Amino acid sequence: MKSTYGHFDDAAREYVVTRPDTPLPWLNYLGQDDLYGLCTNTAGGYTFWRDARLRRLTRYRHNNVPYDLGGRYLYVRDGDAVWNPGWKPTKTPLDRYECRHGLGYTRITGAKDGVEVELLFFVPLGENAEVWRTTVRNRSGARKDLRLFSYLEFCFYEALNDMTNFQRTYSIGEVEVEGSAIYHTTEYRERRDHYTVFACTREVAGFDTSRDAFVGVHNGLHEAAVPFEGAARGSVAHGWNPIGSHQVDLALEPGGEESFAFVLAYVDNDGVDRFEWPAVVNKERGRALVERYTREGAVDEAFDGVRAFWDDLLSTFEVDCPDEHAQRMANVWNPYQCMATFNLSRAASLFESGIGRGMGFRDSNQDVLGFVHLIPDRARQRILDLAGTQLSDGTCFHQYQPLTKQGNDAIGGDFYDDHLWLILSTCAYVKETGDVALLDEPVGYADTPGSAETLLHHLETSIAYTLSRRGEHGLPLIGHADWNDCLNLNCFSTQPDESFQTAGDVEGSRAESVMIAGLFLYACRELAALFRRLGRAGEATRLDGLHADMLSAVEEHAWDGDWYVRAFDAAGEPVGSRVCEEGQIFIESQGWCVLGGAGGGNGRARRALESVDERLATEHGIVLHQPAYTRYRVELGEISSYPPGYKENAGVFCHNNTWITLAWCSLGEGERALDTYLAICPSAQESRIDTYRSEPYVYAQVIAGRDAAIPGEAKNSWLTGTAAWTFVSLSQGILGVKPDYDGLRIDPCIPRSWRSYRVRRRFRGTRYDISVENPDGVCSGVRSLTVDGRAVDGNVVPPAAGPGPVRVDVVLG
Ligand code: GLC
Ligand code: GLC
Repeated sequence: MKSTYGHFDDAAREYVVTRPDTPLPWLNYLGQDDLYGLCTNTAGGYTFWRDARLRRLTRYRHNNVPYDLGGRYLYVRDGDAVWNPGWKPTKTPLDRYECRHGLGYTRITGAKDGVEVELLFFVPLGENAEVWRTTVRNRSGARKDLRLFSYLEFCFYEALNDMTNFQRTYSIGEVEVEGSAIYHTTEYRERRDHYTVFACTREVAGFDTSRDAFVGVHNGLHEAAVPFEGAARGSVAHGWNPIGSHQVDLALEPGGEESFAFVLAYVDNDGVDRFEWPAVVNKERGRALVERYTREGAVDEAFDGVRAFWDDLLSTFEVDCPDEHAQRMANVWNPYQCMATFNLSRAASLFESGIGRGMGFRDSNQDVLGFVHLIPDRARQRILDLAGTQLSDGTCFHQYQPLTKQGNDAIGGDFYDDHLWLILSTCAYVKETGDVALLDEPVGYADTPGSAETLLHHLETSIAYTLSRRGEHGLPLIGHADWNDCLNLNCFSTQPDESFQTAGDVEGSRAESVMIAGLFLYACRELAALFRRLGRAGEATRLDGLHADMLSAVEEHAWDGDWYVRAFDAAGEPVGSRVCEEGQIFIESQGWCVLGGAGGGNGRARRALESVDERLATEHGIVLHQPAYTRYRVELGEISSYPPGYKENAGVFCHNNTWITLAWCSLGEGERALDTYLAICPSAQESRIDTYRSEPYVYAQVIAGRDAAIPGEAKNSWLTGTAAWTFVSLSQGILGVKPDYDGLRIDPCIPRSWRSYRVRRRFRGTRYDISVENPDGVCSGVRSLTVDGRAVDGNVVPPAAGPGPVRVDVVLG
């Protein structure tokens, strides 16, 4: 399927954008270690080192006109024509345009009047530098004398200050220029020991560092003075807005080609003399770095390194299956997006400003589920970091700052689901790796300096925390919200200037969450299984008992006739019940109650999912609840603040759709599982991309619901828990390859029409080649399993000793 705007190149693992005026800017990320770049299909975006707020290297303005303006620009001047290979900012019509978003790189090619310019943006492995490999080809029959002008705008590192404190920032800007290198040195004179360098690996004919000089005070970037006049001015910025621009003159004969690079690097001068001359920054490290990429072949080698890194990572899980969307998402884009959530959490995207949110406790624990098989060691550290922000009574800081790893309650606290997600991430890690030693790691509690309680202790504390906070029905209290940040049953906010989550508690409120009850059920089972694995049957049995107690509370008080209610509000009234005027049925409690084992023996699980299907499913995915709230309800909070059909007010919140996919899998319903999977699958949206608008290669957080003005319109792509959960729902739920304590459990739940598929999976150092046959056209149930030709009882492939490949043959029936 091709859309008007582009198509997948599955073999190259790229999405190819073929026209620049996409329905929204389509984003990619550069980088994999410490330095990251956001890069859109027109080369827009910015670069930062580790922390998008505290170490922002280049500027970007969200909510700009047009949306995506500012980035890595190259102006090409050919005769009197001025154009950009990525179309923006001049938007001069191109003869040819192509943008290939690949794994860790973006390659943009533009051609006009016989001149072709290709820009390849990437961040070399382990390097604090972004490389723009620039290749210019003369495909015309005549000699071309070209002038190129690079352009980017420096940021003063602290992004919030940079975009608010102009009385200071307009006076502090400083640069140094040395040969082909422009050094951005603002604030180095006082407390910074780092600077930014923007260099060209080739000789330059001129430079500019003042925005006023290069662009012009009254000009836009599309009419920047220097490229239109045709000559650099050699401006040196003092205050105002420093930029980096090189002028490169090229003479190319017909068929001629030249390749060189621009390098943007963050340089830390920690441990060396800060100045090489009074008031002259010590540039030794910057020079050495630029030197490295000037050597013949160095840029290409570095790029090969990036490709090899991703190839290796993605070879952890590969599938060959009858559905092209599922296949390409599983093989390429879904794990790639999971890595973006590992690297960036919810910090920096076109919807996350880079200054708002740190690492969320709930979000990050769920993200682990999507990348634990790719980077188990880093997942291990992430889990320990997260646990380290829990307090001794079980309370979790809702977020922490990546630079300091200190928790804070800047965006609120007392979300009574937070702690339970730690059980899910920890169990997923141990299942993946078999590394039970993680459980004994001393982590301590954030409020008890020097304490050395183990990670396992944290998990038990989390269970105890929920038990100690229960309401009239024996169900868990919700606190300021649960997974649904906007279900604020205790806050009763009436002031427009306060946050819905921090507005304070209604006196004596005992609002309960059925979703947390379901999550608790699930967490109890997980922890019980872990204890069994550790040979601690007593604790496991105790957790079985807690599961049974909570289950009876759920079945007794939360069943509404055809589905599970969502919550009980501060007055004890049900939320998500047939008796409600609006918001009669919610998705989250159906998903989690079923996954936690509710409704199993009594038919309610199936009934609840059928109700979801009847009342919430739309062609664009499953909406969060129905009917949407048509007015603000102080007793429900932010959920009713959104216009009907948007975000948590009955939008399709993709994250929770995956729980329904998994719930259908638990009932062995392969068709229903794949249908719910595909409804929100971005690759499957290409045919309606003019409505969907967002990137067809990564998940969006929300798709407008049926009550919205434009149902089916997606927003907030990239940094969403949807990435991890869709990977779990596809790889473990549908394809049924489930890491478990004693090996790989094979438990597919596929449509009857799938007659076979294959999965290649790396697991605890061994490669498994799994081939599944479905001769009878069933959805689930393993009839036979052989491992390297030997029959195995049950459906668990025991861990093998060597690297493999181990051949696994599965027959369903
Ligand atoms: C956002 C938050 C996440 C929350 C969800 C639903 O995605 O990051 O923590 O669960 O919204 O409100
Ligand atoms: C989540 C929701 C968003 C809400 C925020 C508040 O991110 O998606 O709607 O504003 O939580 O913390």
